[in-house]
Amino acid sequence: MMNQYVIKGGNPLVGEVDISGAKNAALPILAAAIMPDETVVIENLPDVTDIQAILMAIESVGAQVTRLDRHTVKINGSHISDYRIDGDYIRKIRASYYLLGALLGKIHKAEVVYPGGCNIGLRPIDQHIKGFQGLGAEVELPHGRVYAYADKLTGGHIYMDVVSVGATMNVILASVMAEGTTIIENAAKEPHIVDLANFLNSCGASIRGAGTDVIRIKGVQRLHGTEYTIIPDQIEAGTYMFGAAVTKGDVVVKNVIPKHLESISAKLIEMGCEVEEGDDWVRVVASKPLKRTNVKTLPYPGFPTDMQPQMTTLLALSQGTSIVTETIFETRFKYVAELRRMGANITIEGNAAFITGVEGFTGADVSAPDLRAGAALVMAGLSAEGFTYVDQIHYIERGYERFEKKIRGLGGRIEKIDSDDDREIRKFQMKVS
Ligand code: UD1
Repeated sequence: MMNQYVIKGGNPLVGEVDISGAKNAALPILAAAIMPDETVVIENLPDVTDIQAILMAIESVGAQVTRLDRHTVKINGSHISDYRIDGDYIRKIRASYYLLGALLGKIHKAEVVYPGGCNIGLRPIDQHIKGFQGLGAEVELPHGRVYAYADKLTGGHIYMDVVSVGATMNVILASVMAEGTTIIENAAKEPHIVDLANFLNSCGASIRGAGTDVIRIKGVQRLHGTEYTIIPDQIEAGTYMFGAAVTKGDVVVKNVIPKHLESISAKLIEMGCEVEEGDDWVRVVASKPLKRTNVKTLPYPGFPTDMQPQMTTLLALSQGTSIVTETIFETRFKYVAELRRMGANITIEGNAAFITGVEGFTGADVSAPDLRAGAALVMAGLSAEGFTYVDQIHYIERGYERFEKKIRGLGGRIEKIDSDDDREIRKFQMKVS
């Protein structure tokens, strides 16, 4: 069964939406959760397919995983019995590489299928490997897999050649129980790096400087149990904030950390939206015509690459010509061909999109090329005239919890329907026409 989203555009998104826990924080934290020999409880997990995949992976090496409810899980890693991770489910997710750091750090041995993930360009792992080697590990690449092992891990001084979220977290994982002190320079500063460090520190690790570009990790002999709550998802929140702007709506994103959303809020204000902030909520109102701007994706605190497709979609409906430059991933503009089918006027030159605003989109058949671009196409459909059909939505379900339900809660007209079920599709069309 292949599901698609069927969307009838034209209703502004209005109301409040609860933001789930951050997928990109939860993934490394779940890998890290196998490192203590005592039980850890993790709360505020997003209920999305990437999380299910990593839970299956840690179970497959012997961790005991108990679901307490949809967003809470209990994990005990005292009986890790295998160091190899394989399987179709894990090939699809990028975050499988965190199991390398976690297993290497705990049992000094890890073999994981080469990380997959969204197809947004070449995604090397040379900095991860360099980091492991800097702690004294050997790394081999046997046929589509990564094998890392060490007799003993010792703290090292690791300089990252590129700012990498994944490599920074992996070196943290591999070094928390190494002998001596590790220093990571040119570390990534994303909120989820701070979250991983906070989680490990709550298990007794000694990590200082997370959130700055120098992180110091003093190895400890063992980690103990904890209870930990994942931070809110910055990108999910940003997607709904842009959804408000794209549909000329009025949305309050709730349970967020407004500081993590600053680069997103700043751009929306620059374009003419009203943005109001509370302790744990942000409201976006788009009542005026939107203005052009330029954006360049950068590591945190810069504008996130995971918000780039949403940004391009919004600029395609704003007055004047804008430029979006993608500096993190090579081929992250594949969705532009889909947006063009909806009437967008965008040309790509190298790593830049030149966008000339149009009055509005028209509904079309489009395909989600990856997770974030898929979400952007749904937002485009919500603003378009007529019906939009988005397929390949399994990408979207990797990272957005109950996407269509949350959108309906804001007044958007959207239904998840089996692509072959013409009757259900017609029923929805009748209902919303
Ligand atoms: C993570 C996120 C992804 C987000 C990205 C940037 C997860 C599961 N994924 O991906 O959603 O878009 O951060 O915020 O959390 N690089 C190297 N060598 C390496 C590692 C990375 O050259 O060893 C390069 C990459 O090609 C890219 C840049 O560094 O150009 C940043 O990549 P990185 O921060 O590592 O992204 P991911 O961890 O893959």
